[in-house]
Amino acid sequence: MKEHIKRSKFELKTERLTLRPIRLGDEEAIHEYAGDKGITMMFFLPNETFEETCDFVRENVAEWDSPDQTDFEFVILYDGKIIGGCDADLSHSEDRSYATLGWIINKEYRNRGFASEAAHALLDYAFENLDIEKAYAQCDINNPTSYKVMMNIGMTCVNDKGTRTYPRTGKTSGEYTCLITREEWESGNQMYKKEKDGREYITKKQYEDLFLEMNPGYFARDYVRAVPVNEPASEMLLCLWDFDEERYDKSFGEEISFGYYHGDMDKLKENVARVVPHWVNFFDEDSKVYCGFIDGEVASFCQIEDFGVHMIGGMRWRIGGPGCVGTLPEFRNKGIGLSMVKEVTKILKEEKYDYSYIHYTYETEWYGKLGYETFVRWNGKGFVV
Ligand SMILES: CC(C)(COP(=O)(O)OP(=O)(O)OC[C@H]1O[C@@H](n2cnc3c(N)ncnc32)[C@H](O)[C@@H]1OP(=O)(O)O)[C@@H](O)C(=O)NCCC(=O)NCCS
Repeated sequence: MKEHIKRSKFELKTERLTLRPIRLGDEEAIHEYAGDKGITMMFFLPNETFEETCDFVRENVAEWDSPDQTDFEFVILYDGKIIGGCDADLSHSEDRSYATLGWIINKEYRNRGFASEAAHALLDYAFENLDIEKAYAQCDINNPTSYKVMMNIGMTCVNDKGTRTYPRTGKTSGEYTCLITREEWESGNQMYKKEKDGREYITKKQYEDLFLEMNPGYFARDYVRAVPVNEPASEMLLCLWDFDEERYDKSFGEEISFGYYHGDMDKLKENVARVVPHWVNFFDEDSKVYCGFIDGEVASFCQIEDFGVHMIGGMRWRIGGPGCVGTLPEFRNKGIGLSMVKEVTKILKEEKYDYSYIHYTYETEWYGKLGYETFVRWNGKGFVV
């Protein structure tokens, strides 16, 4: 067992969430969902009283301090608030060769993919730190959402879904038992697998290889090594075959227009410098610059870049994308920047690119409005979960 898991002061970061070991003081936020009478969990009854939740917290905090810890209970935070919990439990496995994973999300925060995102981090944590060979999870057959989470993290169903009476609830129902082996987990991080066209099947490793092919020697660069561990940047892709132009649709008055920039490069650079000063080094006479204009003056700008043709998962992808995307501070939040990115994405599609690519971004939510998805994240030390 690795040393650091005995220190209960670490955090696991995902794109939107933080997972950290449960602590004293978490009781009230936990009780919001642990005391929710509407929850349908097989092995977990809603706590009748706040005291029960306090006992639960105390017991699990003690687990983190125990040399024989079998249950690794985390809280899930979004925007600084505890919105759920999850655990990896070794207590069912005498030789500690497998963990049983479980998760719960406060009902106010459901249907936003948080459970899959947290379960995925938990799964990686369990395989990386607990020396297990397999991870199981179970859910009631009447809980299709939880089943979907299991599928999302790469598990497969291994039981016959027979009915039984649950010891705690006395209710008769059926369950799904799902499993992922270490080998399966290593061979591909399923969250990153996309099925498109019924045949494309891309693993996280393939995406990482693509990224390194596009950016050779990336993690040796000084400015990359300087990216703090707790501030991972994202790389995003949008499959242009699937691009839905209606997804973000903003109408503007006549004063707003979009098009290539043919004006003076030095003037443009003055604008670029007002957004991100060092980007001026990336703009020169050969740059293909596209803008959003207000009365003919630049409000937003970007470059249209060609990232070449790459083989991924046996398929040939032609990749391009907007780079150095910015909106002058006084023109932000009017929809101009994103509409410009949309126009560029349409151009790439018309020009028969397969994917549009966003490199080194922290604006995942913003690009997400157009359907861009994160495929790898990295910091100065390399790729992250
Ligand atoms: C990120 C940036 C380009 C956004 O430009 P913008 O023109 O203000 O964005 P838009 O107005 O087109 O945004 C469209 C929508 O997203 C919202 N939005 C704006 N910034 C957002 C952000 N950072 N995250 C999520 N949503 C955002 C807007 O409110 C708007 O909402 P709507 O759905 O009601 O229309 C701009 O803030 C900027 O230049 N930042 C500095 C440079 C930078 O970080 N660039 C990205 C590098 S990869």
